Amino acid sequence: MTDELIRTVHLTKVYGVGETAVRALDDVNLSVARGELVAVMGPSGCGKSTLLNLLGALDRPTSGEVWVAGENLARLKNVDTFRAKTVGFVFQLHNLLPTLTALENVEVPMQGHLSAGKRRTRAKELLALVGLADRGAALPNQLSGGQRQRVAVARALANGPALLLADEPTGSLDSQSGDEILALLADLNQTQGTTILIVTHDRRVAQATQRIVRMSDGRIISDHRLADPLEEDLRALADSRLGQAILGRNGATLQHLRAEEQMALQRLLERWARGG
Ligand SMILES: Nc1ncnc2c1ncn2[C@@H]1O[C@H](COP(=O)(O)OP(=O)(O)O)[C@@H](O)[C@H]1O
Ligand SMILES: [Mg+2]
Repeated sequence: MTDELIRTVHLTKVYGVGETAVRALDDVNLSVARGELVAVMGPSGCGKSTLLNLLGALDRPTSGEVWVAGENLARLKNVDTFRAKTVGFVFQLHNLLPTLTALENVEVPMQGHLSAGKRRTRAKELLALVGLADRGAALPNQLSGGQRQRVAVARALANGPALLLADEPTGSLDSQSGDEILALLADLNQTQGTTILIVTHDRRVAQATQRIVRMSDGRIISDHRLADPLEEDLRALADSRLGQAILGRNGATLQHLRAEEQMALQRLLERWARGG
C-alpha cells in the first residue's frame, strides 16, 4: 500500500448539455498523500468547489474516477457512511444550526455513531482542540464569525475524518480571524495528521501549506511543492541580520543572547550557511 489518500483519474465534470454545457473539471489527475496540507487556488469559476464536491462524494463525475482512502467513490456501498466518517467539510459559511449550542452542533454528525455520553465527551474535546473549551453553551449568534468557523471545524472533525475539505473557509472572515482559521487548520494537520485541502483565493495561505495546486478553466495548471518549511525558515534566518550577527559575520555581535543560546543557534545556522 502506498500512503496515497486521494487519486483522481481523468476526472471530468460537465454541467448542462449542448451549447450551454460547462466543463467545470476537465481531465484532472491529482494525487494527494496522507498527511498533506494542500492549497487549491485559482480564479472564481475555475472548478475548485466542483473538485472538492467530487472528492467528498457530494456530487458525481461525468467521467473519470475518484479514489479516496482506497475506495472508488463510484462503487461505494454506503455513501452516507463515507460522507459521515471519511471526510469532513468546512464551507465559507459555517452552516451551524442556529438553535443548537456550539457543543450540540459539534455532536450532530456523531448521532447514530456514538452514544449520547460519548458524543458529549468527544464534542468537548473537539471544542478544546479549536480553542473554544469555554464556549460550549453558546449559541452561534453569541459567537464571533471566527469562533463560529472554529465550531464548524470542530464539527467537521467529529468522526475523525481522514480528509478535511475546506472550501474558502476564510472567505467571509476579517483578515485576522481568517489568519487564525488558517493557523488552526495548519496546526490540526501537524498535530492530528489530518490530510487537508483548502480552497482559497488568499495568497497568505501559501505560507501555511506545503503544496499549492493552481487551477484554471477546470484544469490543474501547476502543482508546486514547497521545500521542507523548517529548511526554508533556517535559510531565511541564516540570511537575516540576526542570523548574520549570530554567525559573527560583518563584525556584528548580539549582547542579549546568553552564550549557550548563541552557540545552539550558531551550530544550527552554520549547517545551513555552509550549504548556502
Ligand atoms: N450546479 C451547477 N450547474 C451548472 N453550472 C455549474 C454548477 N456548479 C458550478 N457550475 C459552473 O462550473 C464552473 C466551476 O464552478 P465552481 O467549481 O463552483 O468554481 P470555483 O469554486 O472555482 O469558483 C463555473 O463555470 C460554474 O458556473
Ligand atoms: Mg467555489
